[in-house]
This record gives sequence, structure tokens and C-alpha cells, in this order.
Amino acid sequence: MTKENRQVDSWEYAPSLESTNHIHIKKRYELFINGEWVKPSSGKYFETINPANEEVISEIAHGNEEDIDRAVKAARKAYTEVWSVMPAAERAKYIYRIARLMHEQARELAVIETLDAGKTIRESRDIDVPLACNHFFYYAGWADKLAYAFPNRKVESLGVAGQIIPWNFPLLMAAWKIAPALAAGNTVVLKPAETTPLTALKLAEIIEASGLPPGVVNIVTGYGDTGAALVNHLDVDKIAFTGSTNVGKIIQKALAGTSKKLTLELGGKSANIIFDDAPIDQAVEGIINGIFFNQGHVCCAGSRLFVQENVAEKVISKLKERLKSLYLGDPLDKNTDVGAINSKNQLETIERYIQLGKNEGAEMYQPACVLPKKGFFCPPTLFTNVAQSSVIAQEEIFGPVLTIQTFRTIDEVIQKANNSPYGLAAGVWTEKGARIFNMANQLNAGVIWANTYNKFDPTSPFGGYKESGFGREGGVHGLAAYVKFI
Ligand code: NAI
Ligand code: MG
Repeated sequence: MTKENRQVDSWEYAPSLESTNHIHIKKRYELFINGEWVKPSSGKYFETINPANEEVISEIAHGNEEDIDRAVKAARKAYTEVWSVMPAAERAKYIYRIARLMHEQARELAVIETLDAGKTIRESRDIDVPLACNHFFYYAGWADKLAYAFPNRKVESLGVAGQIIPWNFPLLMAAWKIAPALAAGNTVVLKPAETTPLTALKLAEIIEASGLPPGVVNIVTGYGDTGAALVNHLDVDKIAFTGSTNVGKIIQKALAGTSKKLTLELGGKSANIIFDDAPIDQAVEGIINGIFFNQGHVCCAGSRLFVQENVAEKVISKLKERLKSLYLGDPLDKNTDVGAINSKNQLETIERYIQLGKNEGAEMYQPACVLPKKGFFCPPTLFTNVAQSSVIAQEEIFGPVLTIQTFRTIDEVIQKANNSPYGLAAGVWTEKGARIFNMANQLNAGVIWANTYNKFDPTSPFGGYKESGFGREGGVHGLAAYVKFI
């Protein structure tokens, strides 16, 4: 926890703040449309803040319907006149160039991500930014090999893709969306989340520096109304959305009866399951990684823990011990394990759920800690004695809150794990390979990790079932979302 409050005798680290003197953030960002930085037609701007200290970082243009229309027109023109008629190998060169420039600016991108989103520098430096670069590298390789991606099938690009992304992995989600769209020959209008627009705007600068033809990628910042204008624009061929299930449903309704293609990556309430033969210490570390290291701001967070009854006491006591040793605080400190909650709104949502959990009769545990005075922070929280039907075990909290339930048999845990409106991910911890395969066949989840959690790779598809959405991102599957089969 914050250093003064840590309960266990272990190593104390001196503060190790990542430097910010190498980064460039403008006081104000305009919209990136047709290769130019243009003022929003409403003349309106909003502030993006650092959720770890509530200081304003920059002013961001609030795009409206008219701006979305300008961006879509630019994307259409770039699609018809330039991008769709360019040899695929040439398209690949641009995508590689973007990947290399991102790589060169990796340190700056990581620091800006941490400032704008509140996530720890360790995560943005080691996970978000490298993975985002790797997505561009990976999809660049596919651009001139589409014929081999889908053997015996002819494919064509879709046209203009409208993409709306959330605040939990801002740059990575932009990469997940833009890279496959470009590789498949589409042009893009991207709407970043209102609390975390900065790295997408830095990416726009990189795209500008790469010499990508104007209009191929347009970045229009704003709120939900800006996203809705993109969804409802008549000349968009495909919408890709990552965010809340509620907004996903609104989008699906809006697109019903249109010819627009849609992929949705929504929430989750993923089960992490520990059997009694699992390597317990490794599993405990995996649980911590699965829910606490990104403040629970992960759509596939392992937010429901199921422990086999005969090892439950041991696992719970180890988890509590481990929680006491976590560092919560300044996300820019390289030792910090738990950073800031992304926004005041999100913190209030999480706090509401914690109160609800207590009211429902579950038993709460939080390690003793004093939260920083400024900024939005929430201590890592465990709930035991959780009923299967309780709201905290059913609804997505999107915060550092773990519910713990026990089980005796495989059938029981499969039934409990699958008893959720979501189906995004799951984790299984056991020594037995056969049991892993059995579980993987029976769990209703798009991704199942065995003896690990939250591992990502650009070559591997990701996506869910049920209310977690449909369509896959990553791998060849991710390309299929941006082509039509003819
Ligand atoms: P949200 O779904 O409102 O925001 C995601 C994106 O959609 C943002 O760019 C937002 O501006 C845009 N948007 C909002 N309303 C829209 C509309 N009507 N049409 C088109 N675009 C729209 O998510 P929010 O409010 O930030 O978070 C609420 C909850 O959603 C969280 O507590 C969490 O449970 C879940 N969530 C899930 C994510 C995931 O990765 N699956 C990511 C972020 C949030
Ligand atoms: Mg921010």
C-alpha cells in the first residue's frame, strides 16, 4: 500500500518516478481530419485531466455531427481515390512505418498514457505500448497476403470504418482497431474516449509524420454524442466498438436494418478458477495480476474467483497477505502496483458496488491504507461469503474488486462460472492437462487462460460470447472483421 501503511516486513523501495521531461503535450488539440489539424465546428473544447492528481493536462476539441461528416467524407475520398487502389505491398510499407515510429516514441507514449489514464507506468511501458506497436507490425505483414489469410475465398475491403474506443487501454485499443482496418484496405474515422484522448492524438501525429495519405486515418475526439454521430452516419460501412454493454446495445439497435457491419467488444465478469492441485503461489500471483494490477480496468479482468473448498482458506489468506504488500499510489512511480481509477465517475461506480456488496451481506477485506489526498484511488478489495445471485457476483464492476466463492466439484464450478450474462474470458489453475482441456470445452468464454492470466498477443484472437459482444480482434480472425467475402 502507500509506503507508510504497508503491513508486512519486506523490502522498501525508494521512490522511482519516471521522468516527464522528455514528453511533448500541446496545451490544446484540434481534430485530425484529412491529414490536417482542424478546429471543431462548434468551437467547443473539453479538458482531459490526470486522474492521479486531478490536474488538467490539455484541452481537447469536441467534435460534433458536422465534424464527423467532414471526417467521413475525407475517409471516403481517401478510400476511393488512394487507399483501395494502392498496391497492397505499398499499404504495408505505411503500416510498418507507423509501427516503427511508435516504437521510437514508446517511452513518451507510455508516460502520456499513464498521465492521462492513471494506469501504472509499469503497465503502459511493458504492456500497452509494446503490444500496440506489435499490432501494427503484425497486421502490416498481412496487408499483401490477404489471399492467403482466407484460402479459397476472395475478399474485398469494406470501405470506411467507424471505430469507437474506451479508456482502459487507450492506445492499445486504437491499435487493435486501426491496424487491421488499414491492412485490409479500409480507411478509418476513430473516436477516442473522452477521459483518455491523448495517446490517440499522439498517434495522429505519428500518422502525420509517417506520410500516410490524408484522410486514410481521421481522429475525431469528443463524448458519446460524437460517437453516436459516427454510428449514425449514412456513409460508414462498418462500426467497431469497445466499451460498455449498455452503449453496445444502443449501437446494435441503431444499426439494425442497415447494411453496416458491426463488431462489439463489451464487458465481462470473468471467472478465475483454482483447483486444489494448482501451484498455489503462482495462482495467487495470477489472481492479483488478473484484477488488481490495472485497477480492475480490464474487460477480461478475472473478477470472480472460484477456489476449490479444501484450499480456500490457504488461498484467501495468501491473497490477503499479498494485498498488504502491494504499492498503491503515483502511477508514474515504477514501483507502483495499483494506480488511479480512470475517472471520478468510475470511482463512484466502484464505491457504489462495494457498499452494495456489504449491504448484501458479503464479507469485505481491504488492506489498511491511506489513499493519496488528491486523485481517484480505490484500495484493492476482496469479498468472501458471496452468494451466487448477489449483484457483486453478477454485474461488471470494472474496478479492483474481487468476489471469492468456493466449489467442490468440476460440474459445480462450471455451472457457477457459466452462470453469467457475460462470456469473455476465464482462467483455470490446475496441474492436470486433461482437466484444462475439459474446462476449456465447457466454459462459455472467448478466451481461456491456463495457469496464467491476461496474456495477449497480436496473433491470437480475442472476443466474447453472450453480452460480452461478438466478432474477434487480433490474429487472422481480426482481419475477417474488416473484409467482405465475395
Ligand atoms: P462507454 O461505453 O460509455 O464508453 C466507451 C466509448 O463509447 C467512449 O468513447 C464513449 O465516448 C463512447 N460512447 C458513449 N456513448 C455512446 C453512444 N451512445 N454512441 C456511440 N459511442 C458512445 O463506457 P463508460 O461510460 O466510459 O464506462 C461504463 C462502464 O462500461 C464501465 O464501468 C465498464 O463496466 C464498462 N466498460 C467496458 C470496457 C471494455 O473494455 N469492454 C471499457 C470501458 C468501460
Ligand atoms: Mg485523462
